[in-house]
Amino acid sequence: MARSQPAPRWAVLLSLVILIGCIVVPSWAVKHGDFKTCEQSGFCKRNRAYADDASAQGSWNSPYELDPATVHFKDGLFTGVLIKTTTADEKVRLPLTVSFLESGAARLLVDEEKRLKGDIEMRHGSKANKKRYDEAEQWVLVGGLEVSKSATLNAQSETGFTNVLYGPGDKFQAVIRHAPFGIDFQRDGQTHVQLNERGLLNMEHWRPKVDGKEGESGEDESTWWEETFGGNTDSKPRGPESVALDVTFPGYSHVFGIPEHADSLSLKETRGGDGNHENPYRLFNSDVFEYELESPMTLYGAIPFMQAHRKNSTVGVFWLNAAETWIDIVKSTTTPNPLSLGTSSKTNTQTHWISESGRLDLFVFLGPSPKEISKTYGELTGYTQLPQQFAIGYHQCRWNYVTDEDVKEVNAKFDKYQIPYDVIWLDLEYTDDRKYFTWDPLTFPDPKGMQEKLDETERKLVVLIDPHIKKADNYYVSDELRSKNLAVLNKDGDIYDGWCWPGSSNWVDCFNPAARVWWTALHKYDKFKGSLSNLFIWNDMNEPSVFNGPDMSMPRDNLHYGNWEHRDIHNVNGMTLLNATYDAMLQRKKGEIRRPFILTRSFYAGSQRVAAMWTGDNQATWDHLAASVPMVLTNGIAGFPFAGADVGGFFHNPDKDLLTRWYQAGIWYPFFRAHAHIDTRRREPYLISEPHRSYIAQAIRLRYQLLPAWYTAFHEASVNGTPIVRPQYYAFPDDEQGFAIDDQLYLAATGLLVKPVLTENTETADVYISDDEKYYDYFDFTVYQGAGKRHTVPAPENKVPVLIQGGHIIPRKDRPRRSAGLMRWDPYTLVITLDKNREAEGSLYVDDGETFDYERGAYIHRHFHYRESVLSSEDVGTKGPKTAEYLKTMAGVTVERVVIVDPPAEWKNRETVTVIEDGAKAGSTASLEFYEQQLGQASYAVVKKPDVGIGKTWRIEF
Ligand SMILES: *[C@@H]1O[C@H](CO)[C@@H](O)[C@H](O)[C@H]1NC(C)=O
Ligand SMILES: *[C@@H]1O[C@H](CO)[C@@H](O)[C@H](O)[C@H]1NC(C)=O
Repeated sequence: MARSQPAPRWAVLLSLVILIGCIVVPSWAVKHGDFKTCEQSGFCKRNRAYADDASAQGSWNSPYELDPATVHFKDGLFTGVLIKTTTADEKVRLPLTVSFLESGAARLLVDEEKRLKGDIEMRHGSKANKKRYDEAEQWVLVGGLEVSKSATLNAQSETGFTNVLYGPGDKFQAVIRHAPFGIDFQRDGQTHVQLNERGLLNMEHWRPKVDGKEGESGEDESTWWEETFGGNTDSKPRGPESVALDVTFPGYSHVFGIPEHADSLSLKETRGGDGNHENPYRLFNSDVFEYELESPMTLYGAIPFMQAHRKNSTVGVFWLNAAETWIDIVKSTTTPNPLSLGTSSKTNTQTHWISESGRLDLFVFLGPSPKEISKTYGELTGYTQLPQQFAIGYHQCRWNYVTDEDVKEVNAKFDKYQIPYDVIWLDLEYTDDRKYFTWDPLTFPDPKGMQEKLDETERKLVVLIDPHIKKADNYYVSDELRSKNLAVLNKDGDIYDGWCWPGSSNWVDCFNPAARVWWTALHKYDKFKGSLSNLFIWNDMNEPSVFNGPDMSMPRDNLHYGNWEHRDIHNVNGMTLLNATYDAMLQRKKGEIRRPFILTRSFYAGSQRVAAMWTGDNQATWDHLAASVPMVLTNGIAGFPFAGADVGGFFHNPDKDLLTRWYQAGIWYPFFRAHAHIDTRRREPYLISEPHRSYIAQAIRLRYQLLPAWYTAFHEASVNGTPIVRPQYYAFPDDEQGFAIDDQLYLAATGLLVKPVLTENTETADVYISDDEKYYDYFDFTVYQGAGKRHTVPAPENKVPVLIQGGHIIPRKDRPRRSAGLMRWDPYTLVITLDKNREAEGSLYVDDGETFDYERGAYIHRHFHYRESVLSSEDVGTKGPKTAEYLKTMAGVTVERVVIVDPPAEWKNRETVTVIEDGAKAGSTASLEFYEQQLGQASYAVVKKPDVGIGKTWRIEF
């Protein structure tokens, strides 16, 4: 779910169609008028105009200078006061800090002195907080803030520069220019990131509104004090207060990140021109009905984190601001002087970050690799949670499974057709009259029986719970929300009423600690009656979506806990609900502690710690299928890899071909869920006619076969922030030809390279290969080799093109089961592809897939390598109090098969291998079978039943 169209409008459209009585194809397109362009957003327009002024004047001088008397450096902290000189020669004081962090990141923080001191007057008698919003970090940051004591002053000259050496091996340097203020960040003597290089730093300071003096500033004041959009007027009690800064990446021609947009991985230029966008990338969490593709328009979530990449170097910035943000991107190419030999042209990417309110709070990362950026960013905002095992299986959703019997029938059909799945979902309609924490008594009379049935095969139920609470009498949730004062308020301090699914609604304000405690209690089994422990939560509409609000959301002058205006906190709002739901899931019952699972639509930096996300209401079209791949990849490099798109497309009916291809692509989304709109035909995989049903079932089984590799990838993401599926540039950061490629992906470090078919009537796929290793077709071991070019791989409709790079060991489980939980004790298969040096490596992480015992050592973490004809398994875990007990439970789980692709030809004559398990008195033997194949396909050998323990140290000698 869900569409944000108020039901009545939809009904009108439908009845019109019926009245006209002919085939009307409704036009499916986003309603542009509902969402602002930069031109329609006062602060965006003002800052763009500022940028235009700056570039029009040859010698533009940024009016921001550090007051030399205030400049100070000690213990890794540089402090001072920035002075902004206004056109009226007024001096505005802006306290500034640059912190050099132990992690190698640097943080620039600027606030406004008058507002810090509360020394301002509010218009309209507003009770809004006088400070610039300074609590975003409480929601977002969880670590990585230790200041580096080893950062040293390199030079502080009279000419107005302070240079600070910091980072690993003192390889980083910040060159802080005092007047006009700016910072160049260098690594190994080269500048990689420049702040205020173009002089676009702009902190709109507080000033009183003096009637009759409008226009005296010489600036365009039309949007300073009030702004109207779509019939809603924003009262702006503090006047203009935007904050903006330019960030230049010299020598970088690609920038990635800043989700969520339906656009290419490599971000486009945004100031017009051929193939470029006209508007900046916008970040303002919104319920965008029928969103359009290749667009910088905002979507449901926001992560203001960007990576810039060039050959051998990745750097990044994180703009920690919870208000609406726009980001302009332009690229400029400098042509070299023809007389200076050896230099080539160079592209600089210039970005311009503009937020409506809040502090200037920017982190700079100097890499130098994408992995280091992921790690450092993750130290600050947290790594993705390690989900329960079931959560990475297949999820079956639609709006709506209509009764508890319907759910049980769908469940049985999956078994009948032998299609694995783990979770069935209930959208909105399971509730009694759209009141959350209730069940419709007519359609879901026996929710417990339904959940118990699912539990027989270790399956789960996820139900929708949204932050809008129906305003209704005799609904205790509504009564309590209002009587306990836990709801969001309007600008006058009264409970805010808006329109959403249940009709007139109020919104829980999860910024309020008391509201979170209350929310937590609502999820307890005795409160949410009929819920069992295999029920999990879907938080939708948490942007928040408000059908009758401006920009489909709340008025910006609404007030949240702490008297923060909605404008200040909008982009973290959705995340505060996740925070409360996560804690609620932990506290449903005393003593029952399992990893929560929550799906969210709205998100911000840090949401990866508690939830999975999906890309919202897409459409059953080929171009939406294609768009899902760069969207999921972008989320991964922005630190939120547990991402997916609705398989099949939410709106409309996909035909069999599209649906099949979508499953074949969707099995590579970290979050793999099919979903469909209420007006679409049923499309559960078993309903599709043959042969497509089998194709889809095969795809889903492939996902399940590789669950051990997926779970290991999630583990890696949970400890070092690496994406679960990775784009080409991330896997091969030195290969320039691959930087913009966003239609193929790698599953973590497994060596699996996937090129899903994303277009109609396609029988082949052109897979780009960067290096000169051999790549083997996953299914028949056809060999592809040749660096820096595309290779044509057959892609008939029953096949998703997957290659394995030489040099990997991939763990699998080959026995089909009904759900992930039922695979727990199944034996493993290891698939080995050798690299040019006849070596290979891989890893496996396993735990109970459910509890937090892994934090106390209850897990298996093995590193496999193959070298000099010996395959060995080495323990890379750290022991804890629960290790021994866990290993005991896993003692019977073994490796039942080892497949070696492209083995030496002399193995043909060999019949056995020697198996040596640590601690065993003597080695044993296992049989080896050699399979020769036709030309073009690698031969392979199979070790049968080596039966070594998965948690043990062992060797197999070939
Ligand atoms: C990139 O790195 C490789 C190996 O680390 C090195 O050989 C090459 O010279 C580097 N290229 C550039 C442009 O720095
Ligand atoms: C929710 O937020 C509170 C307050 O910042 C914090 O103490 C708690 O750990 C958070 N919970 C989660 C699950 O992030």
